[in-house]
Amino acid sequence: MSTVQSVPVPQVLLEAGRRRTFAVISHPDAGKSTLTEALALHARAITSAGAVHAKGDRRGVTSDWMELERERGISVTSAALQFGYRDHVMNLVDTPGHADFSEDTYRVLAAVDCAIMLVDAAKGLEEQTRKLFAVCRHRGVPVITFINKWDRRGRDALTLLEDIETHLGITPVPVVWPVGNAGNLRGLVEAGNTEQMLRYTKVPAGTHAALEEQLTSEKAAEQEGEAWTTALEELELVLSSGPGYDQEAFEAGKISPVFFGAALTNIGVKPLLDAVVDLAPAPGPRPLAKGGSREVGEEFSGLVFKIQANMDPAHRDRIAFVRVCSGVFERGMHVTRAASGRSFATKYAHTVFGAERTVVDTAYPGDVVGLINASALRVGDTLYTGKKTEFPPLPAFAPEYFAVARPKDISRSKQFRKGVAQLDEEGVIQVLVSDRRGDQAPVMAAVGPMQFDVILHRMEHEFSSPIALDQLSYRLARITDADGAAALAKARLTNGEVLTRRSDDVLLALFADKWHLNAFQRAQPDVLLQPLIATAD
Ligand code: G4P
Repeated sequence: MSTVQSVPVPQVLLEAGRRRTFAVISHPDAGKSTLTEALALHARAITSAGAVHAKGDRRGVTSDWMELERERGISVTSAALQFGYRDHVMNLVDTPGHADFSEDTYRVLAAVDCAIMLVDAAKGLEEQTRKLFAVCRHRGVPVITFINKWDRRGRDALTLLEDIETHLGITPVPVVWPVGNAGNLRGLVEAGNTEQMLRYTKVPAGTHAALEEQLTSEKAAEQEGEAWTTALEELELVLSSGPGYDQEAFEAGKISPVFFGAALTNIGVKPLLDAVVDLAPAPGPRPLAKGGSREVGEEFSGLVFKIQANMDPAHRDRIAFVRVCSGVFERGMHVTRAASGRSFATKYAHTVFGAERTVVDTAYPGDVVGLINASALRVGDTLYTGKKTEFPPLPAFAPEYFAVARPKDISRSKQFRKGVAQLDEEGVIQVLVSDRRGDQAPVMAAVGPMQFDVILHRMEHEFSSPIALDQLSYRLARITDADGAAALAKARLTNGEVLTRRSDDVLLALFADKWHLNAFQRAQPDVLLQPLIATAD
């Protein structure tokens, strides 16, 4: 099979320009599933409500792993939903809702060009929203804000905007403003067109898009009275005190365009979708590890941002999710895995959303492809054809929870080793080997404790090697080097610190708390103790 792309460059550029690849970040229960469904319904990608929003009544549970999700009410799976809107191709990449999986979210955010930050109007900025926002900021992903549940009583719009500015350090710039308080939503007014009001009439949840009608400002004043005049006054107040909308500032993460609505009744969903088309950037050049960048019109390149095993128990397979970064992906093509220089045949390529799989034959920059049977691939891998390409590695998060894993049944140590190695490769958990304990008792390092539940479950059900996890008292990890290792050894490890080695050979020193860390650093001021990315804001 030829590796030369058969689609001409102008068409690749055209297709890339039509793509909008984005994710929704939010605190659990803010309405992410509802909004995902509303977006897709609005764009008429799916016809029945419930195909996405399957939390309460998850039909067709297809794997033990998904069963775990259902039991815990968490979403650990991640895939992409593709739908057409206004001559554009929208790729909505799913993010895990819980911050314990924020390392996964970080990787997902490496695959998108924009994020929608969903805020519950009554609850304001919640903890996970802040953490996920911090991840966006770190990755330089532009953020659109959607204030949801405006059909219910909630905080007032000005307070919510003030919170965003104060707590997130980003300037909120309203693109639409609500007419009527939270709980009494009459409609919306666009910041760029105050001569009109968009009035919404509610329809039963999820059946079809809310009825939207346009009123002239005279009619709005006549029919909506004070709600209309207050909306105009508030909008004017916010716009006159801020910098206004500026595309460059949005793409640089300095401002966030703000929308109001109610995902449940499809209110404000159309302006939001329009904003994703009009404001969110199309796929662009992607920086390379060694400088320079890969242009979208060059030959195929892609980034593996998620590996997921066991989505379908009948197949026990392993899917690598790849974001196409440049060129054309054609099923069956042979691509090179940058890390090993080996060729990888893409015979089985699918788009995957939840339990649904569709074979994909061609994909363009911005699209997400699921490669089945991808046991040779790792999270963070670059795949390419033509000129050697390698994207920067996806940085690992600072683990804050540590536990020693031991097989409950030592006769199953082979399965134990295989399972631990696979969980490490998938990036489900960081696996560390400590000097003190050796590789028979690896240390599992997690960003959040729920990751432990996932590995306990998967080791037992998937690898048939139930494990015990003995929690350790470390809370801090710092990257160190050979000198640091020697200093730690000299310190005789009396203060609870320990040296470990990650599977990518990075040395991590673990400390019980910041007091022990500070004491060690004071005694060894020249030793490298470099922080990893923190999830807390
Ligand atoms: P999540 O994925 O972010 O966790 O949230 P999800 O969409 O599951 O929504 C959480 C709850 O909030 C759901 O109610 C959902 O119906 C409700 N909700 C979402 N958007 C809106 C909105 O715009 N207005 C109102 N009033 N409610 C909204 P639930 O009762 O917990 O679940 P369910 O029984 O409806 O599934």
